[in-house]
Amino acid sequence: MVFKLLRKHMKTILVTGGSGFIGSHTCLCLLKNKYKIIVVDSNVNSSKLSLKMIKKIFDQNKEVMEEIIFHQGDIRDEKFLKKVFLKSLNNGYQIDGVIHFAGLKSVEESIKYPLMYWDNNVSGTLTLIKVMELFNCETIVFSSSATVYGSSEISPLKESFEIKPLNPYGQTKATIEYILDGIFRSSKSNLKVANLRYFNPIGAHCSGLMGEEPLNKPNNLFPYICLVAAGKYKKLNIYGNDWPTFDGTGVRDYIHVMDLAEAHFSTLKFLLSNKAQLINLNIGTGIGTSVLDLINKFSVVNDIIIPFEIVDRRPGDVASLVANNQKAISILDWKPQRDLNNMCADGWNWQKRNPNGY
Ligand code: NAD
Ligand code: UD1
Repeated sequence: MVFKLLRKHMKTILVTGGSGFIGSHTCLCLLKNKYKIIVVDSNVNSSKLSLKMIKKIFDQNKEVMEEIIFHQGDIRDEKFLKKVFLKSLNNGYQIDGVIHFAGLKSVEESIKYPLMYWDNNVSGTLTLIKVMELFNCETIVFSSSATVYGSSEISPLKESFEIKPLNPYGQTKATIEYILDGIFRSSKSNLKVANLRYFNPIGAHCSGLMGEEPLNKPNNLFPYICLVAAGKYKKLNIYGNDWPTFDGTGVRDYIHVMDLAEAHFSTLKFLLSNKAQLINLNIGTGIGTSVLDLINKFSVVNDIIIPFEIVDRRPGDVASLVANNQKAISILDWKPQRDLNNMCADGWNWQKRNPNGY
C-alpha cells in the first residue's frame, strides 16, 4: 500500500510507550523542538497524567497542545495500530518515524513470566514493524538496554562488544536488535534504525511535574533511595560490598533522564537526515558511580541521611557497567549536560512534590 500526500513542515513521530518514564520526558523534548507527536500507550505501567503534565509545563499553550495526540491501546493489536497510522494520514500527517519505548522492563518479573515478556516485547515489536512497513515508515529508534551486554568483565563497554544477555528481559531486547538487523540487511530495506542501549536513567524534569513512578516496590537503586528519603522505607539494602570495585559496591553509569530524552531527539534528527543505516549506540555518561557514591551524593545535595545496611549480593547482578559513549557523542549532535548533582536534586524534587506519584 503506497500513500502519497502533502507533508506539513513539521515531522510527525509515533512514540510507543510515550506515557512512561523515559517516553514522557522524550515527548516533552520533541515538542520543544517542534515535532508533532502521536503517543500510543496501553498504560500497563504508566499514568495518562504524565502527558497532561507536559501540557502544564507548556502552560497549556494551545499550539503545543495540538501537536500531541494520545491513543490508548496495545502495540500487539495490529488493527489498532493500523488505525493510528491511517488516522494520522487522513489528517494530513504521514508518520515519519517511530520511537519505540513500549515494553515491559522488570528483570525479576521477566524471570517469573518469560512468556509475557516475549509476547509483549517481541510480538509487540513485530506487529509495529509490520504496520510501519505497510505505511512506508522507515525510521525507528529502539529502546534497547545495556543489559544486552550481560556480565561483561570489561568496562567501559563498547558497542562492538559481544551481546550475551542473562535474563528473559535482556533476551527480548537482544532479539529485537537481531530482528531489526535482519530486516535492515534484506535487499528491499531502506530502514533507518538506531538501537539505543541505555545505561541507568534516573532523575526527573527540573519542574518537578514529571518523573518516574514505579507502580510496585522498586527494584532499582535510585527510586528506592528516594522512597527511603521520603520515609516510606526505613533503610536501603546495599547488595554486597565485596564486589571488585573501588569501594566494593556495584558501579553503574547513571544518566539524567532529560539527557537521555535529548539523545532521542538528536538520534531522530540524525536518522531522518541521513541514508538508510543501522546504528547501535550506548547512551550513558561514561562515568562510573558506586552505590555508596550515589547515597553520599544524594545525602549532600538534598541534606537527607539515607540509612543503609549491607546485605548479600542480588542474584544476576554484575560489578560494573559503564558506557563508552564516544560513538554517540561523535555521531549525534549530543552530549550529556547534567551531572549527578542535577540527577539527585531533580529526582528528589519530583519525589517530594509527588509522594504518591501522578
Ligand atoms: P516505563 O514502563 O515507564 O515505560 C514503558 C511504557 O510502555 C509504559 O508507559 C507502558 O504502559 C507501555 N507499554 C508496555 N507494553 C506496552 C504495549 N504492549 N503496548 C503499548 N504500551 C505498552 O519504562 P521506561 O523506564 O520509560 O522504559 C522505556 C523503555 O526503555 C522500555 O522499553 C525499557 O525496557 C527500556 N529501558 C529502560 C531502562 C530504565 O532503566 N528505565 C533501561 C534500559 C532500557
Ligand atoms: C537493573 C537491571 C537491568 C536494567 C536496569 C535498568 C537487574 C539485575 N538488572 O540494572 O537489567 O536494565 O536495572 O532498569 O535487575 N542496588 C542496591 N540496592 C537496591 C537496588 C540496587 O544495592 O535496593 C545496587 C545493585 O546491586 C547495583 C546498583 O545498585 O549495583 C544499581 O542497581 P539497579 O538500579 O537495579 O540497576 P542495574 O543493576 O544496573
